[in-house]
Amino acid sequence: MNTVIDPRKVSLRKVTSATLSPHAHEWLNDPEVKRFLFNVRHHHYHYEDCKQFIEQAYAVGRPHWGVFVEDVHVGNISSHKWLYADRWLDLTFLIGDRTYWGKGLGTLSAAAAIRYFFRKGFHRIQCGVFSKNQAACSMLEKLGFKKEGVSRETALFENRYLDIVHYGLLETEWKPSPGCDVVFVEDLIHSEELKQPALNKQTPMIY
Ligand SMILES: CC(C)(COP(=O)(O)OP(=O)(O)OC[C@H]1O[C@@H](n2cnc3c(N)ncnc32)[C@H](O)[C@@H]1OP(=O)(O)O)[C@@H](O)C(=O)NCCC(=O)NCCS
Repeated sequence: MNTVIDPRKVSLRKVTSATLSPHAHEWLNDPEVKRFLFNVRHHHYHYEDCKQFIEQAYAVGRPHWGVFVEDVHVGNISSHKWLYADRWLDLTFLIGDRTYWGKGLGTLSAAAAIRYFFRKGFHRIQCGVFSKNQAACSMLEKLGFKKEGVSRETALFENRYLDIVHYGLLETEWKPSPGCDVVFVEDLIHSEELKQPALNKQTPMIY
């Protein structure tokens, strides 16, 4: 691994039209970044799409943070599916600026988000990733996620069907990763929302 990121420089914050990276759409169009992203890899994005996504995401109460390094937006940690009544959610993560890959930023920001959710009272966090997504699989396993199952041959990738691997992490199994408590995490979910049993949401899959 290259130089490890300093957790004091990292924060997870709501994204606004002022802080949204001018490169946000380029991340989603970058073949290296999008190759293992479910529906995203089938589309082309414009900056306006990202702006609209942010507005809609917060309007439906989607847990969505930008990953910031010294105030620069470089990625996202988000959830496109959650059921507050049963205290679980599905987590997605993206470091869009590839110059930050391999520096521990993905692991650190996901760990900070996981810490936030478990402290809020969530019981389970889950993720589905392409079987060939080595970085995401290593990251999740390092964070303590367990492989729970496989959806066979779900994604058509370079003329071959790939499995989707389902990972899950329970609050009782989780061990905080070094530095995750230092990362500033903006509060996104208010306790009143957690008390609403009907809050079962699924939103479009964009990262
Ligand atoms: C997955 C992702 C968030 C990892 O971010 P990152 O900041 O590079 O991750 P880290 O530096 O914390 O490294 C995590 C692990 O992945 C490994 N890794 C990183 N880049 C890798 C690569 N290109 N190939 C294989 N492994 C890689 C690291 O070695 C590390 O494992 P280790 O500690 O056992 O060595 C990033 O690659 C990304 O945004 N990918 C595109 C979006 C995506 O696929 N998201 C997942 C779908 S939800």
